[in-house]
Amino acid sequence: MCGIVGYVGTEQAGPILLDGLERLEYRGYDSAGIAVLSNEKGLQVKKAKGRLKVLSALVDGGKAVEGSIGIGHTRWATHGQPNDVNSHPHLSEDSRIAVVHNGIIENYVEIKEYLMGKGISFRSETDTEVVAQLLAYHYRQTGDIMQAVYRMLHRIEGAYALGILCADMPDAFIAVRKDAPLLLGYGQGCSFIASDVTAIIKHTREVSYMEDGEVAVVRADSIRVYNALGRPVEKEHSFIDWDVSAAEKGGYAHFMFKEIMEQPEAVRKTIHPRLKDRRVVFEELKMSPEEIRALQRIVIVACGSSYHVGMVGKYNLERLLRRPVETMLASEFRYCDPLVDEHTLVIVISQSGETLDTMAALRQAKSLGAHILSIVNVVGSSIARESDEVLYTWAGPEIAVATTKAYSTQLVLLNMLGLYFGDILGSIPAEEYASIVEELQALPAKMEEVLENTDRIKYLASVCFNHSSIFFIGRNLDYALGLEGSLKLKEISYIHCEAYAAGELKHGTISLIEDGTLVVALCTYAPLFDKSLSNIVEVKARGADVLALTDDSHAEELRKTVPNVLTIPDTHTVFKPSLGVIPLQIFAYYMALQRGCDIDKPRNLAKSVTVE
Ligand code: M6R
Repeated sequence: MCGIVGYVGTEQAGPILLDGLERLEYRGYDSAGIAVLSNEKGLQVKKAKGRLKVLSALVDGGKAVEGSIGIGHTRWATHGQPNDVNSHPHLSEDSRIAVVHNGIIENYVEIKEYLMGKGISFRSETDTEVVAQLLAYHYRQTGDIMQAVYRMLHRIEGAYALGILCADMPDAFIAVRKDAPLLLGYGQGCSFIASDVTAIIKHTREVSYMEDGEVAVVRADSIRVYNALGRPVEKEHSFIDWDVSAAEKGGYAHFMFKEIMEQPEAVRKTIHPRLKDRRVVFEELKMSPEEIRALQRIVIVACGSSYHVGMVGKYNLERLLRRPVETMLASEFRYCDPLVDEHTLVIVISQSGETLDTMAALRQAKSLGAHILSIVNVVGSSIARESDEVLYTWAGPEIAVATTKAYSTQLVLLNMLGLYFGDILGSIPAEEYASIVEELQALPAKMEEVLENTDRIKYLASVCFNHSSIFFIGRNLDYALGLEGSLKLKEISYIHCEAYAAGELKHGTISLIEDGTLVVALCTYAPLFDKSLSNIVEVKARGADVLALTDDSHAEELRKTVPNVLTIPDTHTVFKPSLGVIPLQIFAYYMALQRGCDIDKPRNLAKSVTVE
């Protein structure tokens, strides 16, 4: 949540900061602001409630602000309403220190009261302002900004990535990180900080990732990093291997649609390096076959769509491995005194690699002795770095808040992991293994086939978009798929919708079905096709309008009962959700478009959820 960018160099900082913020806006879009320092004008802060374009108009795209060093912020409000005053950067009372912050200062009330007791007055309702004020307080005491930073860090609790600009230090700004992402960028005669590499990729691909407790002093020609004790740290540099076009719309109206269309290629890239001589290989895995054989249990933890991938994983991995697999919401796992130990493999799934709940669950599982394997998209992210093993999805940057290609690449990777473990455990008959691999290879092309049905789905959305309540029903893998279809639809179209295991309807939910209720019936899971058909008949008898999804083999039979049937190509059972999710994503997209919603930046949401 919230995006941070910082620049110091020889060019005008304003336009560079605004451009960086535009690329970070997916992280939060309640308000935006910049602080820029110049010899003539001193420390200038400009901020505005609303989307970045409001700020951009205020500062003429950044050109109206003088100076070649500055920090910027795009906000997802936590403490205090999204208004101008609560927007970042926040200033100290004497306006000599400006701070941008991503995260939450948990003990801000106590610090605020302490500082108010010292006669310091506050302007905003935010937790962040205490950082600026506390820093200024210690700066007045010590006369040394670095000492003041360390004293301030000693006092604050919570999660934070901070950018700090001080009027007395015109050639450098300070960056700090704990439990919130922040990276350093090394340009030609210029340096950067950013929450995410997309903000600075235009200027440099050479980055390093800050660790918890580190403090960086960022100058145009050098970045010095110190640990929590103030000792210098040598940072390892990484090179980003994708370019700026990957983070641009490239002619599409929305990032979400572009990312839906990119799925076959993203899945291809995820599969390709891990398939050799028709066997799945994970050269990046450190676990030995003996360790894999010794596993007694697998627990998958994640949030949101990544959790839905885990739900598919529960069905598929249990089936392939004949080992118990449990999938848990990371936010629940943390507080349920989980039964994991050194015989448990905990699979952590996260696109961003920064989701706070998921990160906390990872740390807890680790402290209990579990082996942690993460499936992550963002290279160098916190979850990737703290895991024992990491499998990258190689989906490229995903900008739309609603995940699509990350979901698909996570899913294929989890299935591949099932194949890999199953091979070692000998739990998959050779013939079945070969047929799954064959379908794995065919998957990207079959995804392309599904994308060819876009116009039909668009038409169905044009007749369905006025519904105010929608139910997704399905059994087994179709239930897991329904969870994702329903989340996609509600998060971007704001239509109330729920996913139910179809067999559960009769235990209560069916009382909600009345004339004209839209039910999206998922019938791709062939072993339970007949049972799903019975559930369709039941809801139709109560007046529901049904839109159904099945595979080519069952389409004809389904059409006898339901006029609106969407199809996916036949494939092995484990890959049905990989194909089935695409029509549901496209349906959600066009429903939201018909309703005039802000598809890439749905209300109240942010891409990277770094608050609890
Ligand atoms: O980055 P992560 O995969 O950890 O994010 C988890 C969820 O916040 C995320 O999947 C969210 O549910 C998406 N907006 C769904 O489209």
